[in-house]
Amino acid sequence: MGVALRLGLAGLILLAAGLLGTRYFLPEPEPPVPAKTASPAASDSATPEATVVGRVACASCHAEQDRLWQGSHHDLAMQEVTPETVLGDFNGTEFK
Ligand code: HEC
Repeated sequence: MGVALRLGLAGLILLAAGLLGTRYFLPEPEPPVPAKTASPAASDSATPEATVVGRVACASCHAEQDRLWQGSHHDLAMQEVTPETVLGDFNGTEFK
């Protein structure tokens, strides 16, 4: 192998290593900035804010499901905590 060929090959190897190296050492390109940043204050009037409608909104069509749900454990689980709704006796109970 001639000297010129060896130098040429070495040059090609260095060039390839340099090109590959840019993938790891150059900073990542900045991600594109979205045209409109999402913020609740500047929300589109066409998309209303999500709100809890409550079960009454469902009962008109799902009357049977509403009837079955009333008084169920799922219904009672979300009651306000009062002496009447808390059935367990936690007086003086310590967590160890
Ligand atoms: C205007 C009538 C109407 C209202 C109001 C309504 N639904 Fe429905 N809902 C339907 C119909 C019709 C179906 C389809 C029933 C079927 O395919 O058998 C359905 C299906 C469902 C299903 C799927 C049931 C299944 O077995 O796959 C769920 C869950 C459901 N509704 C929940 C709700 C909830 C929660 C609300 C209130 C936020 C609500 N629905 C309000 C009419 C309504």
